Amino acid sequence: MADCFAVPAKELDFKKATHVFQPLFGENSIVLLEGRSHHLQRQLLMPTFHGDRLKAYGQLICQITQEVTRSWTAGSSISMQQVMPDITLQIILQVVFGMSPGVRYQQLKELLSSLLEDVTKPWYSSLFFFPPLQKDLGAWSPWGQFLRRREEIDQLIYREIYERRLLNDGSRTDILSLLMSACDEDGQQMTDMELRDQLVSLLLLGYETTAAVLAWVFYLIHFHPEVKYRLMQELDGLGTQLNPDDISQLPYLTAVCQETLRIHPIALICTPRMVKDTVEIAGDKFTSGTVLVPCIYLAHRRVETYPEPENFKPERFINQKFSSHEYLPFGGGYRGCIGAAFSMYEMKLVLATIMSQFQLALADSHPVHPVRRGITIVPSGGVRMVVS
Ligand code: HEM
Repeated sequence: MADCFAVPAKELDFKKATHVFQPLFGENSIVLLEGRSHHLQRQLLMPTFHGDRLKAYGQLICQITQEVTRSWTAGSSISMQQVMPDITLQIILQVVFGMSPGVRYQQLKELLSSLLEDVTKPWYSSLFFFPPLQKDLGAWSPWGQFLRRREEIDQLIYREIYERRLLNDGSRTDILSLLMSACDEDGQQMTDMELRDQLVSLLLLGYETTAAVLAWVFYLIHFHPEVKYRLMQELDGLGTQLNPDDISQLPYLTAVCQETLRIHPIALICTPRMVKDTVEIAGDKFTSGTVLVPCIYLAHRRVETYPEPENFKPERFINQKFSSHEYLPFGGGYRGCIGAAFSMYEMKLVLATIMSQFQLALADSHPVHPVRRGITIVPSGGVRMVVS
């Protein structure tokens, strides 16, 4: 599978698999672009989710987590699957958009979460797979409703872009500002529609995914008290003043997040890749038209790589390093997830902030199981917890 990620871009076609996202993300989305324009967008976006740029978001991530959890008191009952998207959506709105809480922020937050809520329902998502169903028969028809809500979201985004252009504040460091000031080799800036498509893609791909992993982590560490004990020992070692940099480097916390993504990868498969001309991968020939689907779930359950693969054992990641074809929760190659480093960083900070402030317990002792929600796999029952 490592070789599958290494196949040169020009040999593979992604459009056949990603075109279903077009009505949602728009034709200029990084997910739908191919060839040179895809490469350029990745070059532009990748640095904003890596290295020193990540550190700039640390305080913000901890602060948003504290604000959302401020109302928790002893006895509060919480559904992790509801609270986590609230945290991660606010993080992405502030990091990507550079928006501060206010009327437009609140409207966008509500519209995006209700849109995502709808598109993850099986009957609603079928609209995207069957174009003949995409008929606007008025505001009450499913497609008509989708188009109207998308229009509302777009208007809010275009308004934000318009105001930013007027203000022309060169000191801003959010991702929208960066995209707005970028030029291609002919000196052309991105159009409003191109900006919109990129923003909506990052927003929709970037928050539910991380929120789902967080819900899994909370469940797994509370279902395995020995893991929770070791994690709390590590967190206690940081003292009372939590520093995002220190948190992100904690080895056991990192291993807990990695093992969660191994045992419950949010995406079971990578984006399918269609072979254009014959390619050879690990000695096998694949002819034109073959669809290659790297399977994350199966790679993560290989007993040769992960002894007792069904067991949650974060220490695997302390003792050993895994190659890109053994461990691939974020896919790989030139289509690999651009938010991988960002979401790992975010997960660790959200988890550490909550675990060092609250004593939580699972509301019931039944094991949860994976269920499909749109293109992600989430824990059943919403992971209900009680603050003790
Ligand atoms: C735990 C959280 C996440 C998981 C598990 C995840 C997983 C994935 C996977 C499996 C792919 C397909 C990779 C492939 O086919 O090789 C992908 C692509 C992508 N992800 Fe993520 N993702 C996460 C968070 C994020 C975040 C936070 C962002 C951005 C803010 C993001 C943006 C993207 C984009 C733009 C692509 C498409 C890249 C391209 O086509 O070049 N993801 N992600």
